[in-house]
Amino acid sequence: MLIRDTSAGYGLVSRLFHWLMALAIFAMFGLGLWMVGLSYYSPYYHSAPSLHKSVGILLLIALALRFGWRLANVRPSDDDLKPFERTASRIVHWGFYPLLLALMVSGYLISTADGRPIEVFGLFSVPSPGENKGLEDTAGAVHTILAYLVILIAAVHAAAAVKHHVIDRGRSLSRMWSGPPTS
Ligand code: HEM
Ligand code: HEM
Repeated sequence: MLIRDTSAGYGLVSRLFHWLMALAIFAMFGLGLWMVGLSYYSPYYHSAPSLHKSVGILLLIALALRFGWRLANVRPSDDDLKPFERTASRIVHWGFYPLLLALMVSGYLISTADGRPIEVFGLFSVPSPGENKGLEDTAGAVHTILAYLVILIAAVHAAAAVKHHVIDRGRSLSRMWSGPPTS
């Protein structure tokens, strides 16, 4: 089992980061939309945002680790792509990192604008940068726009990956799912 990435494909660590984070990001989008519509009398009024924030902070940590791992590994070769596809896929792959960072930081700023820290599953707490009530609405608007943008780009990225696999018979989906060939 290959742990690191090679020029032929993604190793175990990158694949786990990719699929677990993709699943969590889609789930966080659904949870976010659902929780902002809850009434004060819902039993989930406090627990749903608290889950959203806790998972969000874990995702922020995972993003930093994943970025470090990406830089410490060779990038699997994409020379089976047409020049246009290669440029587009590189922009999308690298673009995900700053977009996700901005999404998570805006979420952190909404949550801590009242000066209170974020309790992450009761395990540790992330301090607030200080009370700044005026920031809550701006950060909220930015967070919503970025969340839709990330999901839109992820949908196009997934459609491109499936098209490349099914129509062009390319190898990128297989090497992200089962890794590079071992022999
Ligand atoms: C993968 C990352 C994330 C995704 C996809 C995501 C998605 C969303 C969505 C779709 C909403 C609903 C927006 C609306 O319709 O008003 C939302 C709200 C919210 N998110 Fe996130 N979020 C993420 C990360 C975070 C993080 C890291 C935090 C904090 C640490 C956070 C805190 C919040 C808060 C406090 C709200 C409620 C905002 C309000 O009351 O208007 N989110 N999120
Ligand atoms: C929110 C969801 C997603 C995000 C943020 C995301 C992000 C990324 C990133 C950043 C890469 C570059 C490798 C890396 O740095 O780890 C990548 C590669 C890849 N993704 Fe996603 N992805 C998501 C969902 C999906 C889905 C749903 C599919 C397929 C149905 C998919 C298929 C692929 C494939 C096949 C590659 C490898 C491309 C290559 O051969 O270089 N991704 N993704």
